[in-house]
Amino acid sequence: MRVLVTGGAGYIGSHMVKMLLEQSVEVAIFDNFSTGHRDAVLGGTLVEGDILDLSALDAAFRRNRFDAVMHFASLIQVEESMREPAKYFRNNIVGTVHLLDIAVAHGVKHFVFSSSAAIFGEPCYTPIDEEHPTQPLSPYGFSKLAVERVLADYERAYGLHSISLRYFNAAGADPEGNRGEAHDPETHLIPLILQAASGRRGSVKIYGDDYPTADGTCVRDYVHVVDLCDAHLLALEYLRRTNRSAAFNLGNSRGYSVKEVIGAAERVVGRSVPVERHDRRPGDPAILVADSTRAKAELGWRPRFDDIDTIVRHAWQWEQRLAKKEKVAN
Ligand code: UFG
Repeated sequence: MRVLVTGGAGYIGSHMVKMLLEQSVEVAIFDNFSTGHRDAVLGGTLVEGDILDLSALDAAFRRNRFDAVMHFASLIQVEESMREPAKYFRNNIVGTVHLLDIAVAHGVKHFVFSSSAAIFGEPCYTPIDEEHPTQPLSPYGFSKLAVERVLADYERAYGLHSISLRYFNAAGADPEGNRGEAHDPETHLIPLILQAASGRRGSVKIYGDDYPTADGTCVRDYVHVVDLCDAHLLALEYLRRTNRSAAFNLGNSRGYSVKEVIGAAERVVGRSVPVERHDRRPGDPAILVADSTRAKAELGWRPRFDDIDTIVRHAWQWEQRLAKKEKVAN
């Protein structure tokens, strides 16, 4: 089997490439390195290109016959998307339509899409299942929802079967320590806490402690990056077995507050992490927890690393590596 992984030099994509190679799948990585990292490409064939560039995409599909596409390449910063919606609509929607058109033209039948819990907007109830209304609050969330709609029409019109995987809070790192999260700027809670723990940052801000939750801080459903990759492999198997399209919410169905995550980090690191109280960050819902019953029943998904200490421990291994690298560079 041969799979094209867009965004294969990024956080989740690079973990996916590793897992596919371990399954003896042939992998081509398509990445423009706008947010991905060259040193995250540790296997597979690299095709440097942009999904907005139709001829680069076409050339990649001419060189290889792909059985499936896994599409990770996307911009992911909610706050940036509020300031620069055009950038998000261009990259995440137009770029994906380009990719889909070329995939369809080359006879690809199976497509796995990285969607997001951001499609749901402010929760009407919790945990959030697949029937929950979709009212995204940001251009980022809208861009993911728009692609889900495009995919439904492409199945009807062109016979492209797809699975949309709505990630809740992707976290953790390769248990072997060779891959992890390295966004620039970093906005995600766990890497920021660990940067404060390693001394690469003075402190971590707690964005609001007056939410209607047990300790006043926001609750999120952190899901290990390797478990997300497992779900992609299962999604591919499902597509090959059933030729049916579907969407699944992916989380551990257990929420942790910001303070609880800081507590987990302090246990893992073995010392206290400097924190700073801050006002709420605009647009943060109090609680976001997934109901992943459908993914478990239909895909047979069984998260392997579903406790917060393991997620943080793997992220800590990676942070220590980044901190060491930074020290050497300075
Ligand atoms: N937080 C802090 N301090 C920080 C950073 C974050 O207190 O320095 C808080 C946030 O307010 C939030 C929680 O930690 O309550 C998690 O924040 P992240 O930025 O790590 O993640 P989000 O929940 O905001 O968003 C993530 C992805 C989105 C995706 C969403 C779906 O970044 O792309 O999960 O659940 F849509």
